[in-house]
Amino acid sequence: MSQKPDNLESMRDEFSRIAVLPGMNAWEYLTMCRERHPALYRRLNPARVPVEHVARLYEGVAELATHFEGKLESGRGDSYRKAQNDNYLIRAVGFLRIFDLAVPDRAAVSADFAVLDSLGGNGTLTRIVRDSLPAAQVPYIITSDVSGRMIESALAQGLPAIRQPLQDLVWFDDCTFDAVIVAYGTHHIPPEERARAMAEAYRVLKPGGHVVLQDFEIGCPTTDWYDKVLDRYTLTGHKYEYFTRQQFEDLLDGNSFEDINVLDVYDPFILYADDPKKARLGLLEYIFTLFALEKLLPGGGVPDERLWDELEAIVRETSTFDPARMPADAPHVSEFTVARDGDRYRAEIPRVCLVATGRRPPVDAARG
Ligand SMILES: C[S@@+](CC[C@H](N)C(=O)[O-])C[C@H]1O[C@@H](n2cnc3c(N)ncnc32)[C@H](O)[C@@H]1O
Repeated sequence: MSQKPDNLESMRDEFSRIAVLPGMNAWEYLTMCRERHPALYRRLNPARVPVEHVARLYEGVAELATHFEGKLESGRGDSYRKAQNDNYLIRAVGFLRIFDLAVPDRAAVSADFAVLDSLGGNGTLTRIVRDSLPAAQVPYIITSDVSGRMIESALAQGLPAIRQPLQDLVWFDDCTFDAVIVAYGTHHIPPEERARAMAEAYRVLKPGGHVVLQDFEIGCPTTDWYDKVLDRYTLTGHKYEYFTRQQFEDLLDGNSFEDINVLDVYDPFILYADDPKKARLGLLEYIFTLFALEKLLPGGGVPDERLWDELEAIVRETSTFDPARMPADAPHVSEFTVARDGDRYRAEIPRVCLVATGRRPPVDAARG
């Protein structure tokens, strides 16, 4: 591993030729981080790998056709980011549970405690955690994502963020993070690259640090939602391979993690409103926008009551769970529900996700 250079100036020309974000080269990115996100900059080692490696990595990344770029780039990311930015607390229950598993000891959190949100989109996890927990329990969360538009959006909101694939965490040295979260996007990593991705998660974790891996179990209602609904009604389509419990366990076990546990986590969409009609419509509109279900639109391209009825029927068909198989550790519903909750109404669509947790062995154990 190369020593972190005190002075980046010698790398200026080479880094200026590498595009890392739309309209921003590596040199501009690093100098921006130094000024605006010093705690991220401190964790970057621009000399960790040869500059040719960095150039090749970002050339490859630029050619990836992720679904999360903008519409002009044939993606559905604009719609996703709009839904997330307007209403990020709708997914708070699942995100906060995942955060709890990644940071089980809140007393250990300090300004120096660092979490990598490795498929972090435009920073949803950071926004939810910052909004939901007392400041003293909020660690330094770095949003990392392969999509340029996602990272551009996170940076525009003032969040520390970096564009890179989980398979190659280019400028992070070994043992940099106290926790790594791999969530809400794992099925987008090609199956043959998933082990490599988890090896990177292990490499950048400090000994004793926690990993949380999240996605959806093959055959559960939520994978039906993706396979049948997203694939049919989005302009991008949606064909991915999901996970078995055994594959989740193997991904951690095969990468030397210990204390592995595979569990189901309740991960609903919840929206509150002051009347039941608004709660129902608000949640359906959110789902429609988040997943960019454009092919459901009627001829004129304007949503109407028929569209919302059709979407509700689709949600009921694909998001109704066997009540006996719901995780028992959280209050939940097992089908699309609108119900009174105190002086408001709560619309809720259930989902259950698959989670694996593990730990990089503490240093003494690692040395045997
Ligand atoms: C469904 S979005 C979720 C984003 C964020 N976690 C959230 O829940 O709002 C999936 C994200 O995974 C990212 N992604 C897919 N493959 C990736 C990879 N190999 N490395 C890093 N990010 C990746 C995509 O660019 C996208 O932003």
